[in-house]
Amino acid sequence: MDAVQVLNGRSVAILGAGLVGAGWAIAFARAGVSVRIFDADSSTAEGVLPFVAKQLEVLQAQKLIKEAVNSVLSRMTVVPTAASALEGAAYVQESVLERVDVKRRLMVEIGDAAAPDVVVGSSSSGIPASAFALGLSITPRVLIVHPVNPPYLIPLVELVPTAHTSLEAMELASSLMQAIGQSVIHVRREVEGFVLNRLQAALLREAWSLVRDGVATCEDVDKTVRDGLGLRWSFMGPFETIDLNAPGGVADYARRLGALYLSIANSRKEEGAWDSEWISLVEEQRRRHLPLAELASRRAWRDARLMKMAVLRLTSDDQR
Ligand SMILES: NC(=O)c1ccc[n+]([C@@H]2O[C@H](COP(=O)([O-])OP(=O)(O)OC[C@H]3O[C@@H](n4cnc5c(N)ncnc54)[C@H](O)[C@@H]3O)[C@@H](O)[C@H]2O)c1
Repeated sequence: MDAVQVLNGRSVAILGAGLVGAGWAIAFARAGVSVRIFDADSSTAEGVLPFVAKQLEVLQAQKLIKEAVNSVLSRMTVVPTAASALEGAAYVQESVLERVDVKRRLMVEIGDAAAPDVVVGSSSSGIPASAFALGLSITPRVLIVHPVNPPYLIPLVELVPTAHTSLEAMELASSLMQAIGQSVIHVRREVEGFVLNRLQAALLREAWSLVRDGVATCEDVDKTVRDGLGLRWSFMGPFETIDLNAPGGVADYARRLGALYLSIANSRKEEGAWDSEWISLVEEQRRRHLPLAELASRRAWRDARLMKMAVLRLTSDDQR
């Protein structure tokens, strides 16, 4: 089934059109879906279509979309209110600020204005939906649909239901995400940070500590991931990696190196918050490497690399 069929020909409402919401608009419209976009900030709302047009042009130059840019753009409408975005919507992608109060207010508004069968996916990076979506008429139809930025280049989405999310809502979100080309994982119970950010947190915890303790510079930590670990991780996960890294597979790996990992884990029991001293140390090293004024151009460089990888993934037939 394609995305339009999953939605029965109805539209998607994008609420919040910052970095992530605008990326979602591309992911849905490129799959043939009509999207109605609302952002509470008028200058952000005005900037969405020009931003999206630019991204679509780059995607087209990389042959990642075949359709004319204007034809994809014709499926996007920026509207002045949330209620107007919700008109005719079968699915809502909420992408407002990562704050419980802001998300809660919006859930109440969606419950009042949307169709009674609407399904709501929240882009929340770490706040579980039960923190802002319980006790409402729409509660059974709300879940987390957490993307990685930008969602039109990085396919993973984490689906995280609350204890009250219906199976039908989960199934619609899962079918829709697959139909627009995302790679779906089901997080079985609510846990802060879900899976992706918990894994990222574990790696960052060690990275900050290694720099703080003077074991390695910031650049050498980045190099270790960029030129070492990350090369495998761009096409396989940590479990498959260790399964292949011992003659007898994962159990053999655990026998050989389990004690080392336990010892490393025990050496890090007293970690605290990222404090200002650590932050200054890393900030000073990063800014020497990349001045603040060059962050935006480096982001564009990152996205161009991601596009090349997307082309490689699409054209190679041995992904899994
Ligand atoms: N940036 C990332 O890498 C990333 C990745 C995955 C998920 N997320 C999550 O996606 C969500 C959005 O993040 P972002 O990075 O796009 O933030 P952002 O600040 O770029 O965009 C948020 C937008 O929401 C708008 N907004 C605020 N209240 C609103 C309301 N009531 N109705 C409509 N619009 C409203 C703001 O004007 C702003 O444009 C957050 O929950 C964030 O944690 C972010």
